[in-house]
Amino acid sequence: MMATSVERMSDMLQGSPLKLGRQDDPQCPRFQAPGQAGIAGGRPLRLNGAMPRPDTESDLPQKHLALPDLAGTAGLARKLAETARAGDCFALWGDLGAGKTEFARAFLRAAGVTEDVPSPTFAIVQPYDTGIGPIAHFDLYRIESAADLDEVGFDMALDDGIVLVEWPGHAGDRLPGDRLDIQFTLGPAGDRAAALTGRGSWRARLAGLNL
Ligand SMILES: Nc1ncnc2c1ncn2[C@@H]1O[C@H](COP(=O)(O)OP(=O)(O)O)[C@@H](O)[C@H]1O
Ligand SMILES: [Mg+2]
Repeated sequence: MMATSVERMSDMLQGSPLKLGRQDDPQCPRFQAPGQAGIAGGRPLRLNGAMPRPDTESDLPQKHLALPDLAGTAGLARKLAETARAGDCFALWGDLGAGKTEFARAFLRAAGVTEDVPSPTFAIVQPYDTGIGPIAHFDLYRIESAADLDEVGFDMALDDGIVLVEWPGHAGDRLPGDRLDIQFTLGPAGDRAAALTGRGSWRARLAGLNL
């Protein structure tokens, strides 16, 4: 019988020689914030007239919402989980403490996960078999380089199911261009919010969502 994606990912992680030392500067220039100049949907720009025009920030659909409490985060996660399908990538941007893990936890709960949902800060990836298929929850903060993504099964997780990724900028140009960016913010007065940007198939899907 074929091993499930969860088993295969666990196998890959066994004895992984992944070098995990970089705890210093998450703003390292090789890591890019959503929509930063030089990338379009996570892929390098190709300035060739024959290529389709890449997404630019100004024509991407965006939605903003306040997340004053955990119930707000849970409501957003539930609506997105209802429409999510295999291959979807939810890129969870934001500083430490902004609310990325709480969103992932709420998304997994909405998908029927009842087990504990720890932050994958040290494990890097935590796979789940859920009512809506496999979901892999990544935290790439400790990833050394985009090449290390192979060792944690990043592309495989995208092929197999839904991916929730914290510190997505650490994936560099391996981050899929077809994704929903969710930028979490925590203001000085403790006000929390999320800004959603749809890329690829998510341009139309986000526009059609009633959040
Ligand atoms: N919408 C929210 N309302 C209130 N508290 C929140 C909200 N989102 C997150 N928190 C709290 O903020 C803290 C950090 O959240 P967490 O999701 O772990 O942040 P991150 O993963 O971005 O570092 C946790 O104590 C969490 O419960
Ligand atoms: Mg986190």
